[in-house]
Amino acid sequence: MAQQMTVPAVRARKASDGVEPLVMLTAYDAPGARMVDQAGADLILVGDSVAMVVLGYDDTLQVTVDDIAHHTAAVARTRPDALIVADMPWMSYHVSAGETVQNAATLIRAGAQAVKLEGGRRRLPMVEALVGAEIPVMGHIGLTPQSMHAMGGFKVQGRDALAALDLVDDAEALVHAGCFAIVLEGVPDLVAARVTGTVDVPTIGIGAGPDCDGQVLVFHDVLGLEHRVVPKFVRRYADLHTEGVVALRHFAADVRSGAFPTADESYRMADAEAATLGLYGVA
Ligand code: KIV
Repeated sequence: MAQQMTVPAVRARKASDGVEPLVMLTAYDAPGARMVDQAGADLILVGDSVAMVVLGYDDTLQVTVDDIAHHTAAVARTRPDALIVADMPWMSYHVSAGETVQNAATLIRAGAQAVKLEGGRRRLPMVEALVGAEIPVMGHIGLTPQSMHAMGGFKVQGRDALAALDLVDDAEALVHAGCFAIVLEGVPDLVAARVTGTVDVPTIGIGAGPDCDGQVLVFHDVLGLEHRVVPKFVRRYADLHTEGVVALRHFAADVRSGAFPTADESYRMADAEAATLGLYGVA
């Protein structure tokens, strides 16, 4: 049996030390969490991407702390070896440090072992308050989907030298405030490499090239569970949407033709009992 992953074990996983890159995948429910854990992922992220891939919203701004707590609890009930990280939704960590800690506590009580929040130096008081309350924090900088309106859409960040240096400064500040790992999303590979080489906690990339200490992708994107347009950094390892539709069509055809269910898929009454009711010859 694999060992339970812990925050200190994740924090120590720098690829430059010759260790394997960290693997993080999202999951939002019990069957998904079991699949991700059996696949040997180090971390399960209950991402606010649940808004788009499960709940049918167009962006991540719609989910609430209660939504993430609900999905975190489902993941936690499977008792995975992977570390469970819950995303803090938009507006759950923007108002005050006190509210941030209360909201994070809701996610921890739902079963998360750490929380993730988006943004750089602007978030330092919130990160410090969480760390002060013994809640481990994963940072998330670069393309931060909760800032989609401020950024003018889902745009790659850190493309020019100044913006790249700003990201390095953000990463250093987050580490100084106590983050145990940082997600780098949607940044040029060289910028991710520079951040990774600068900070002493692991970076976990998504659309950030190969020179990070780990990689994360969204469960539904990896498995091709739906045919939404995916960014170029997604690699699909299966097409479960197509396979699923084929299987469901097969079921529908079997129902319509009478091929489902068979006697083997039905419950039988004892012959004597059937006879009492006058039910003879019912196949
Ligand atoms: O919500 C999410 O799935 C994420 C990952 C893309 C890092 O934040």
